[in-house]
Order: sequence, then structure tokens, then C-alpha cells
Amino acid sequence: MKKRLCLSLALAYPLMLSFTYGGTVHAADAKQPWLDAAQSPDARAEQLVKAMTLDEKIQTVFAYFSTEFQPKKFEQPKEGRPGSAGWVPGVPRLGLPSQWQSDAGVGVATQAVSKTPYERTSLPSGLGTTATWNPKLAFAGGAMIGSEARSTGFNVLLAGGVNLMREPRNGRNFEYGGEDPLLAGIMVGEQIRGIQSNHIVSTLKHYAFNDQETNRNHVNVKIEDQAGRMSDLLALQFALERGQPGSVMCAYNRVNGDYACENDYLLNEVLKKDWKFPGYVMSDWGGTHSTIPAATRGLDQQSGFPFDKSDYFNAPLKEAVVNRHVPEARLDDMVKRITRAMFANGVMEHPVATPTSADAGIDFAAHGKITQADAEEAIVLLKNDNSLLPLAAGVRSIAIIGGHANVGVLSGGGSAQVYPKGGSAVPNEGPAYFPGPIVYHRSSPMGELAKLTKAKLTYNDGKDAAAAAKLAANSDVVIVFGTQWLAESFDADDLNLPGKQDALIAAVAKANPKTVVVLQTGGPVVMPWLNHVGAVLEAWYPGTSGGAAIARVLAGDVNPSGRLPATFPASVAQLPRPVIDGDAKTKDDNILEKITTDYNIEGAAVGYKWFDLKGHKPLFPFGYGLSYTSFAYADLSAKPAGTGIAVTFNIKNTGKRDGKAVGQVYVSPISGGWEAPKRLGGWDKLELKAGTSGKATVQIDPRLLGVYDSASKTWKIAAGDYLVTLADSAGAKPAASVKVKLDAKTVDVNGR
Ligand code: BGC
Repeated sequence: MKKRLCLSLALAYPLMLSFTYGGTVHAADAKQPWLDAAQSPDARAEQLVKAMTLDEKIQTVFAYFSTEFQPKKFEQPKEGRPGSAGWVPGVPRLGLPSQWQSDAGVGVATQAVSKTPYERTSLPSGLGTTATWNPKLAFAGGAMIGSEARSTGFNVLLAGGVNLMREPRNGRNFEYGGEDPLLAGIMVGEQIRGIQSNHIVSTLKHYAFNDQETNRNHVNVKIEDQAGRMSDLLALQFALERGQPGSVMCAYNRVNGDYACENDYLLNEVLKKDWKFPGYVMSDWGGTHSTIPAATRGLDQQSGFPFDKSDYFNAPLKEAVVNRHVPEARLDDMVKRITRAMFANGVMEHPVATPTSADAGIDFAAHGKITQADAEEAIVLLKNDNSLLPLAAGVRSIAIIGGHANVGVLSGGGSAQVYPKGGSAVPNEGPAYFPGPIVYHRSSPMGELAKLTKAKLTYNDGKDAAAAAKLAANSDVVIVFGTQWLAESFDADDLNLPGKQDALIAAVAKANPKTVVVLQTGGPVVMPWLNHVGAVLEAWYPGTSGGAAIARVLAGDVNPSGRLPATFPASVAQLPRPVIDGDAKTKDDNILEKITTDYNIEGAAVGYKWFDLKGHKPLFPFGYGLSYTSFAYADLSAKPAGTGIAVTFNIKNTGKRDGKAVGQVYVSPISGGWEAPKRLGGWDKLELKAGTSGKATVQIDPRLLGVYDSASKTWKIAAGDYLVTLADSAGAKPAASVKVKLDAKTVDVNGR
């Protein structure tokens, strides 16, 4: 690509500024001032909008699906990228490129897996990345996705997802960041920042309260303003601040009566007015329901035509503007927001390539290392009796049972699906079409373990529990792989591993108590066999190099340092809604539209906060995770700093192995008054060599110390004593606590 003219040259020729487009340098003369990258994104977008015709504006706010869609006899637009989520035509005469959209929750995704086998690298699930509690890995993963997007021709990505885990059975939890607003917001925000570091627009989704898949297209979520601002909206707000995404995707569901994509409260009031979001709102695919209400209540771009019933933002919007039912100024605002996001991210100055080969020259080896590092830190060691793990050098025979562990690792299904290198390791499993088929990445835990151990490994597929138990009885150690395939568009029926896996694990553990269970699940599961097995690893959906990551943790080459980003309940009876609302077993929209779900039951007390409030003992608490070494905490100190609290403490690795500790800081008001007894105030992850110590620091955001006041739109921090606690998890006994006295304070809606 040719270099842009330098600033001095640009100043010498004020009417001949430059930009690169399609690899060549174009002159930005006085007629096209928006091409001058030295101006602010706002100024450039305003200038561009002024130069556009009504038709050009309309075509910019209306996006097409970019994959053949048989049910509606829709052909993929020629200029769209094959098998992708969307395409918006550019305006070449003005230098405005097309918007090529792809899903990208865990990697550059592929729609219709069976038809368009584009190979990309997949990270672990979003929940897995969150389990690392390591924002650097989230950023690196995002940067990797962004680079694969660039080389495969996408400049708008539909990631990251930050729907809070109110419902552990939600089929899409694997795409999101768990149950805590701070942890989820920071990790997803870092992923977005990584993606956008490649001069690509990314999209925070799904805005908002789309926390279940059951009846997702209609269900009316009831939630009060205060509870929403202190939970799901807070997670989105943190992610928005960290990631500065160019775009936000409104959700399918209704919120307090109105669809999220025509919800004045969500779009105009909270997002654009209160949070001052300068970017644009795109609808979810099939999430637009009208022209005039959607346009006036804050939707900026209709996505994925023909998923909606009508092309609301195409000819109907033009007519509404011409007839002044929608002010042209509002259309201008939509276009300004879209193009501003593109200018702010340098999309015009750094055009994406048109891919010429199926692998687009991606450095799969380098990207494999990035995803493997993420997967290794994502794995959570949940149980390890008598140090069964890491596998001892003397182990001579290992039974590997189930989960297709001899060939690959599981991934989550739906629009986030990344097509694996070489295709799925297990063909023809699950539904033939969306959200299937079930895809396994070609990274075999067994094959990888074979490289690291001298023990003899024998595989049994687990279909016959008696045969598996026989092999287990004749082996020194057993590793059984439990899988739970989840995907967009449905929720899990319950929290048990599907099929007969619980019985299989019980049978195997009975035959040989030296049983290690490796789980690959979309989210929390129950473990009826827990007391009878020796060790448990939660590996989530571990991505392209997942087999190597699992093997290295089993063998001890990696010391596990993941921590649960969500509570693992003991049973569904402990949940705010033991039965998920909305499963009406009908396709009749008239019935489905009347279904509500009440998030005010738990309000802002999501996840561990609910468990604390109710005194429920979970199977494993939020924040939990073991290590092959041990850590000790000392010198906890906390003092008011700015509008928050500054916390420092020391962590010592007291064991014999190097490892990573996650120092978690919880905070509670001594006199109560919050939605729940305590909140996560922050954390610090330290890498510590055996025997060494390190200093951890945490700054607690004022919003995590206050209560949101809807009337004044401020966060109010009450005067009084607060307990700052250092703990291994939300359920653990505090390792240390200090009291901090705070004066009454008020910060604005954005915590300032
Ligand atoms: C999903 C979105 C996704 C879109 C485009 C929808 O079904 O809900 O998350 O970005 O499809 O693939």
C-alpha cells in the first residue's frame, strides 16, 4: 500500500489532501474534504453526509444478508463476501467503501457451515476467555480476529457479546462474558479494543436483556430502570467504555413492552443520551419491526435483509422521509453515526483486502499459539483430590473415554461458528442446518497428550458404559470427556450433561476412582458424580488449539489459572426462574408476543449476588478455581482514592510450581443497602515463580460502590464503612478484610 502524503505536504497543498482507498492514493480536494484524515471523525462524517443524495443515504442504512437464504429465495449479493452475515453497498463516487460484516465472537465466523468452508482460527468460547481473568489475552484474541477479518475482507465485525448470565441454561452463554458486570464488561471491552486495533468497526451486542434464547424473538423482559442500570446495562456500559465499539446491535426481545430495536428508552435515552454513544445502532438479523417507530426511537441501520418481514429501512424509509414522517435530519444522524464509526476506526484509510484464496494467507501457526495461550489460561481446575493432576510420571496406562477426544474438541453453534481448518473432526453430528451441524476442531486432546506422556493411551467412545468401565478398571488413570453442545436459538433443557454422560461418568468412576473428568460445556453444569471422581477440569469450548491446551494442563506443562466467570448452581431449583419462561411450544406470534419474563425477581442480584442474597450454596462459586501450586495473601490495604477506592495487596506463591494467582477484591457496605451483600470490586492476575511474591493493585470504580438513582440519573455512594475483602472466590472465606470509611458522594450516570 502506498504511503499517505505527509502532513507538511498536505499543509502545503491545502486543497489536495490525501487518503488511500483500494491501495492507491486519491486526492482529497476541496470537494471531498471528508477524505482528510487530519479532521475529527465527526467533522468528516458531517461533510460526507452533506454530499450524499437521499438514495445514497438510504442505501447506507439498509444492510443485506450475504449468504444464500433458501426459505426466502434470497441470493447472496455479488459484492458481499461469500457466506457472511452482511453487506452494505458503498458509494464509490464519494470514497465510501462497502461495509462487509462478519460475526466474530470467537473468530471470523462462517454462515451455513456446510456450504462455505472458509477456514479461520477459533479462540476459546467468550466465557472461556473470560475465565482467564486476563484482559491482555482478551485483547490479543480480539487483535487476532481483527487481523483475520482484514485478510478475509471484513471491515465490520459483530462482536463482542456481553449479555449477562442470568440464565445458566442460555444457549449462547458461551458467546458472552459470564455473570458479573465488571468482569464481563472489561473482558469483552478488551476483545473489542483488540478487534478495532485493526482498523475495523466492531459491534457490542445484544442490547439489551437478551439473556435467554427461548422465545428470544418476542419475549417481553420486565426490568426496572435501577436494577437494569446496575446489572446488564452496567456490563454493557463498562464494555462500551473499554472497547469504544463503533456499533451496538440491538437485541431480538422486547424490553418493558417495546422491541429492543425500537425502544426509545434503551436506544435514545440510555445509549445515546446518557452514555453519549457516538456510534450507530444496527438491528439483530430479523430484529427490525417497523420503519417510523424504529427510526425515531433510535435504530440507525436495518441488518440482514431479508430476515425481517419487510425492507423497512429501504424504500419505506425513503417514503417516510419524503413525506416528513421521519425528519431528514434523523436520517442524516443515522448516516453520520455509521460513517463516523468508520472514520473513527480508520476504515477508509486502511481498506480491507478482497480474499483471493480460501485461507487468505492467514498465519495459522502463529494464530494457533494465540488461541492456545487463551485456552490454557481459560481451563479451570475444579477438583483435584490427592493431587491426581498433573498426571504422575509413573502412570503407565490411561483410558481416554468419550467426547470424541481421540479426534478433536467441541465448539458452540450458531452464527458465531468458525469453520475449522480441515473441516469438522466429527462429520454429520447434530442438526444438519443452523444452528448445526456440531463442529469439532481438529485438535485431539488424546493425540496431544500422547506427545507429553509415556503412558499407553487407549480410547473408548463411551457409548457402552460397561465396556468403558471395563477399560477404566484395567487402567492406572481414566480421563473421561464430558460434552454439552449448546448453540444460538435454543437453551439447555437442564444443567445436566446431555444423553447418558452422567451415568457413564458414574460407571467409570466406580470402576476406577482415579478418574479425571474434562468438561467441554457452554456454561455451568451440575455434576452428580462429583464425589466419586478424583479431578475435574472445565475446559469450556477451547477453540482451534484446545486439545493441546487440555493436554498440557493434564500433563502439568501448564499450571491451571482459570477462575469461574459464573456460579455453577447445585440445581435449577436455586435459580430465580427454575423454569425458563416462554417455552410455549407454538409458532404462533400472537401467543408468543404475550409472553413475559420478570427479571425484577432478582433485579440487579445476578449470579453470585443472588446466591448470597438467598443463602444458596452453589456447586462451585463464582471466581473459584484451583492451581497446582498454592498462594498466600498479605498486606491488604484499601483507602478512598478519587471517587473510588484504591486497593493493594501482596500475593506469594507458597508452592513448588510457578503459577498465576487471581487476587479477587469484593466490597460490601457494612450497613447493607445494596441489591446483595457484596460485589466484585476488581481483581489482579499475577504470574509468580515458585516462592516469589508480587504486589497487586485494584482501583474500585465508584459505580461499584454506589446505588443508581433513577430520578437524578446519578450513582449515590452512601457515607459509612465498607468492607474490602480479598478472597479466592465469591464463596470462599475471606483471606483478609479491611474497613474503609467513605464520605457521601454522587457521581454522574457515567461514574464521573
Ligand atoms: C445473531 C447475531 C448475529 C447475527 C448475524 C443473529 O442470529 O443473534 O448475534 O450477529 O445473527 O449473523
